[in-house]
Amino acid sequence: MEQETKEINVMPRIGDQAPDFEAVTTKGKIKFSEYAKDKWVVLFSHPADFTPVCTTEMSGFAQRKAEFDALDTELMGLSIDSIHAHLAWVNNVKKNTGVYFDFPIIADIDMKVSKLYGMLQPNESETAAVRAVFFIDPSKKIRLVMYYPLNVGRNMDEILRALEALQVSDANSVAMPLNWRKGDRVIVPPPANLEEMQERIDGDYDEKVDFYLVKKDL
Ligand code: BEZ
Repeated sequence: MEQETKEINVMPRIGDQAPDFEAVTTKGKIKFSEYAKDKWVVLFSHPADFTPVCTTEMSGFAQRKAEFDALDTELMGLSIDSIHAHLAWVNNVKKNTGVYFDFPIIADIDMKVSKLYGMLQPNESETAAVRAVFFIDPSKKIRLVMYYPLNVGRNMDEILRALEALQVSDANSVAMPLNWRKGDRVIVPPPANLEEMQERIDGDYDEKVDFYLVKKDL
């Protein structure tokens, strides 16, 4: 059956400049372009406060915040809930589990930010944001996007792995193979001309399948 498209949604893409916004958050009012200058930002949405999957996910971000800090990355959550609901939920989870959501959570009650970032996907829900993750680099460019539906929680190991892969790739001008983890060999970018191809053929690399698939240790 043909799917009805309910609304044209802006979907920021990899390589786009992250749309700027001002928002009320659990850490006060924030203007995104002035937030976390010179740092990476992981901006993520969840469907609703006081719901089970969201509570596990937010707790996961909170429990692994030190790992994001170590990668010079600020966390910023979002849902289409009021600031009052956010504050009550943060307090409730802390009281029940001891986990404290120590990062800003946007109260996007007017859906302004959700719509800017394509987090509101009306064929999934007309009132709740999907589970989006935007990896935004220090120049505020979008570098990686994940969208998950309402009924499947994200994987914190993969979020951290992807963030580290982006940073190591940038720092070393290399690409990351399937399932790359810190310490694994990385891929030398494939040659763009005959001279580079010959260099890959003749070069002394740690692992070589052929000129187009060459790996090295960092
Ligand atoms: C949850 O977080 O459990 C949830 C939220 C919205 C819809 C479905 C599940």
